[in-house]
Amino acid sequence: MKAIILAGGSGTRLFPLSRERYPKQFIKLFDSESLFQRTVKRVLKVVKEPENIVFVANRDYIFLVKGQVRELFNTEPIHIVPEPIKRNTAPAIALGMKYLLDKGLLESDEPVFVFPSDHVIEPVGEFARYVLESQNLAREGNILTFGIVPTRPETGYGYIEADTDKNLSAGEFKAYKVKKFHEKPSQELAEDYVRRKNNYWNSGMFGFTAQTFTEELKNHAPEIYRLFSEFNYEGLLESFHQMPDISIDYAIMEKTKRACVIPLSIFWSDVGSFEVIYELLGKDRNRNAVKGEVYLKDTEGCLVYGDGERKRLIVGSGLEDLLIVDTDDVLLITKKGNGQSIKDIVSGLKDRE
Ligand code: GDD
Ligand code: MG
Repeated sequence: MKAIILAGGSGTRLFPLSRERYPKQFIKLFDSESLFQRTVKRVLKVVKEPENIVFVANRDYIFLVKGQVRELFNTEPIHIVPEPIKRNTAPAIALGMKYLLDKGLLESDEPVFVFPSDHVIEPVGEFARYVLESQNLAREGNILTFGIVPTRPETGYGYIEADTDKNLSAGEFKAYKVKKFHEKPSQELAEDYVRRKNNYWNSGMFGFTAQTFTEELKNHAPEIYRLFSEFNYEGLLESFHQMPDISIDYAIMEKTKRACVIPLSIFWSDVGSFEVIYELLGKDRNRNAVKGEVYLKDTEGCLVYGDGERKRLIVGSGLEDLLIVDTDDVLLITKKGNGQSIKDIVSGLKDRE
């Protein structure tokens, strides 16, 4: 089994911690390890050897990929695929698959799993069992997805409707054919999906063989398929700018008839907001979650997150339910519950420049 780790996106919802040049997966959010580093360790539990991992990242992030892998293992990654330009996940995965095929790294029906690098998934041992047990379904020509039971009508996720009449099995775990995959639905539809049974959030991980991937590109993403089949790896790097900007969810998952879903009953979070970071951090007696040098008085339910080189003392008094994030050059203060608007703040700031 091989793994592609995607380390691309820019994650504006965690501004000012995440920046275009320093996206979410590389930040040491909770402890001394970044989400990217945790992902590498988690994936290694599944694929066992570092040579089974291919890192696909925009070329601007390659030094971060190398540096953070070196921090973990004292050696640099073996397989790195640098995207010359951002084209979203469908072209990024196609480039990773081309690399694996061209370098002769894949056996004919060997499954490849794609993992985002900015999620929290626990416990790691259980996660590894899910992936290992599901690999036969990938060998049989399915495109695997892993579903999370939805808890709110989140419009930033893909929704997967399982066909419970079509039971499959992933070893000890249940699996179903997918009836419908709907990427980022409207609020109204998301509310409908959450109410219905057999609907899951797409956790963003995928599994398939090279043959299945190639056939589904050909069937559903002809623009990508044309470049994928015409060029070798080096040629594809050079013509990468010709790729459409599209995620795998829209390019393949919404259209394929070969998807199946394995519902996960372990903890999963894509750490999409400061509210989530607040939930994931430990709290003091007054439900405050703090990081860095912080002194609080008469303060309740706040996230106070100090980051950056200066490590200055943050002092608060008489505060309630605020998100306070302090970095070397930007200080963010907003109300808890307002975290999703940070995306708009970032585009507002860009317009101002
Ligand atoms: N290498 C590379 N190149 N990686 C990328 C690129 C790219 O151009 N664009 C995004 N990624 C990486 C991100 O870093 C992240 O790890 C993963 O691919 C998914 O991209 P996001 O941009 O975070 O997607 P999303 O969160 O909007 O939606 C996806 O994930 C949701 C779960 O978190 C979809 O798969 C949804 O269906 C899903 O519910
Ligand atoms: Mg995401």
